[in-house]
Amino acid sequence: MHEILRQLDDKRRRARLGGGEKRIAAQHAKGKLSARERIELLLDPDSFEEWDMFVEHRCTDFGMDKEAIPGDGVVTGYGTVNGRLVFVFSQDFTVFGGSLSESHAVKICKIMDHAIKVGAPVIGLNDSGGARIQEGVASLAGYAEVFQRNVMASGVVPQISLIMGPCAGGAVYSPAMTDFIFMVKDSSYMFVTGPDVVKTVTHETVSAEELGGAITHSSKSGVSDLAFENDVEALLQLRRFIDFLPANNREKPPVRPTSDPADRIEPSLDTLIPDNPNKPYDMRELIQKVVDEGDFFEVAPNFAGNILTGFGRMEGSTVGIVANQPMVLAGCLDIDSSRKAARFVRFCDCFNIPVITFVDVPGFLPGTAQEYGGIIKHGAKLLYAYAECTVPKVTVITRKAYGGAYDVMSSKHLRGDVNFAWPTAEIAVMGPKGAVEIIFRQDIGDAQKIADRTEEYRLKFANPFIAGHRGFIDDVIMPHSTRKRICRSLAMLRDKKLENPWRKHGNIPL
Ligand code: HXC
Repeated sequence: MHEILRQLDDKRRRARLGGGEKRIAAQHAKGKLSARERIELLLDPDSFEEWDMFVEHRCTDFGMDKEAIPGDGVVTGYGTVNGRLVFVFSQDFTVFGGSLSESHAVKICKIMDHAIKVGAPVIGLNDSGGARIQEGVASLAGYAEVFQRNVMASGVVPQISLIMGPCAGGAVYSPAMTDFIFMVKDSSYMFVTGPDVVKTVTHETVSAEELGGAITHSSKSGVSDLAFENDVEALLQLRRFIDFLPANNREKPPVRPTSDPADRIEPSLDTLIPDNPNKPYDMRELIQKVVDEGDFFEVAPNFAGNILTGFGRMEGSTVGIVANQPMVLAGCLDIDSSRKAARFVRFCDCFNIPVITFVDVPGFLPGTAQEYGGIIKHGAKLLYAYAECTVPKVTVITRKAYGGAYDVMSSKHLRGDVNFAWPTAEIAVMGPKGAVEIIFRQDIGDAQKIADRTEEYRLKFANPFIAGHRGFIDDVIMPHSTRKRICRSLAMLRDKKLENPWRKHGNIPL
């Protein structure tokens, strides 16, 4: 008996070594942690239950029958993050470059199936050379099995990808279908075709980092939501992130005790809006002053900075926040910001997270680049997302809410539950100057007349009361009481029930 136990210990020790000490050292030399070290940092101490440690590939071609390594390049199982269940897979680059074989895929699929069954998030730590070249189509089939499960899990359990090494070719499409992608700077990249193929086809010379590194994807393409300095920072921030999320689509958002009073007054907000309507201010300051303890986890901070998205808590419960940012492009809606916010709103709606929207939007960004790029369809994504959304929606217009963008940004007409405005709000079809230049075009040569008309228009429309008269705004509130009023609204909405008509699925303008 003792001998059998010892043999098991030996087998486990061998499996835990993955591709061996030399390859682990090479991984460390690149500034990367091993697959198991990553899991240790991500999960609570001693909470990891590993499955399929002894799974091996079944390939016999190219001498692979002599090269089986237990675990086959991916460590899978479940554990807890701050006591809450998560499923995890962590690709082991020291085993055939973390490449995905048929068996490797079966392991990932197994934990995804369980995650869907029990209702817990799936976290993928990706570090892989892609399809196991020796296995050919069996590997491609494995990828497709994972893709299918990504889609089935979408909107059922949160899925998060952390890219910690190579991720190329069709392999990028599994992370692409997850809810959030985080990347590590300098050691991770994602692209459909690498620099060599790019050079052959388009004659562009570009490095892997420039083409698909963490900075590129978190600032230019928007593929990645966040870029972290190293593995440790990425994993610790992922722990913090998981704390905000419900475990599945049947759960309410997690509640964490807070000592921040719901009725906290913030007098500095009374002077946040500059006297000059064209002067920007930092919307992030408002968010931080409103949420519990100033704790705002911003998602995609370096992409489409004209809109802010992220998670905070109000009275301990998670909320999603969407806010126009006047500091970037005057807070205009454009293609990227519409896509960014639409996806965020849909995530919140999938997972019962109330959405708070802070509005200061002069309209959609004009220009050929936007029109040729399809702003009509992309802007419609955000409109659709808000209109479809059934979670509690609280909106605060701080300053501009002009034109179609007023409608889009969680207006009353899109089933906004509680719509507040600050006294500084300006709600109209367009800004006073633009409006006067159109309706009083005949007076354009007369500067005094135009100035008078502009002032008249400003007095009439550049305020929240016309919308207030019609009940489109539920109340005009003191900026300093914003937190208190939102907390009360969310408490009132706690048991909100709203269902959309039955349908197979809607047809969002993709
Ligand atoms: C089998 C692989 C592998 C792969 C790497 N290895 N990728 N084995 N299948 N896809 C092995 C290497 O042979 C090597 O084995 C070990 O992993 C480490 O790789 P290195 O090349 O030494 O590491 P590094 O220099 O860091 O380069 C990493 C890399 C490179 C950039 C990922 O290995 C690479 O280009 N690999 C091939 C990538 C690729 O073309 N994959 C297929 C993409 S198509 P030894 O024994 O020497 O340590 C694809 C389609 C998916 O993925 C479609 C889904 C629908």
